[in-house]
Amino acid sequence: MKLTYYGHSCFEVVVNGKILLFDPFISGNELAKDIDISALKPDYILLSHGHADHVADVEQIGKQSGATIISNFEVVNWFGSKGIEKSHPMNHGGSWQFDFGTVKYVNAVHSSSMPDGSYGGNPGGFIVSTDEKTFYFAGDTALTMDMQLIPKFHQLDLAILPIGDNFTMDIKEAVMAADFVQCNKVLGVHYDTFGFIKIDHGAAKKAFSDEGKELLLPAIGESVEF
Ligand code: NI
Ligand code: MN
Repeated sequence: MKLTYYGHSCFEVVVNGKILLFDPFISGNELAKDIDISALKPDYILLSHGHADHVADVEQIGKQSGATIISNFEVVNWFGSKGIEKSHPMNHGGSWQFDFGTVKYVNAVHSSSMPDGSYGGNPGGFIVSTDEKTFYFAGDTALTMDMQLIPKFHQLDLAILPIGDNFTMDIKEAVMAADFVQCNKVLGVHYDTFGFIKIDHGAAKKAFSDEGKELLLPAIGESVEF
């Protein structure tokens, strides 16, 4: 399965011929200035929570692509009021079968408000299960004991975890999160974008390899296979 990283917590995965874009925050990210937003034509946009560094480019990309938004009820409704009609609301613990595979919305320990300050529901993460691969995107979250429930139901091929500290868990805790979800291949997100979350890439990779795990840190615009 092919994943392309667009900086911060934004990435795209091609699943059974459908393009899934997660947490688009590109135009406001100086590090992602070479990414051409107008070229993005996802079929679905999945949003972990309402914070601007996860939804800033949803309106533009949603309107140019006609993508269906998948997020919690409140985030979906907010974008509905912005003229994005195709959407699928979810909430914690629920799963839904889409044409590319099954999505489960799981909890994250964080907060969620929309860019205008209105209520953004509760933050979450996604488990995407398909006949090819299964992956987990944690969204913005602390390390939680709840992550231990995930491998009871899903065998993950990739875990996409925040590693930048300050607003989310840090590298050491992300290594433990990978243990909790029983996945040895991790894509790190939510790092380097602003001063609070700058990391040492070498030290981060070593922290994972010391525990027999692999940390992928693709360049912005780079694709990885998993
Ligand atoms: Ni956030
Ligand atoms: Mn964030």
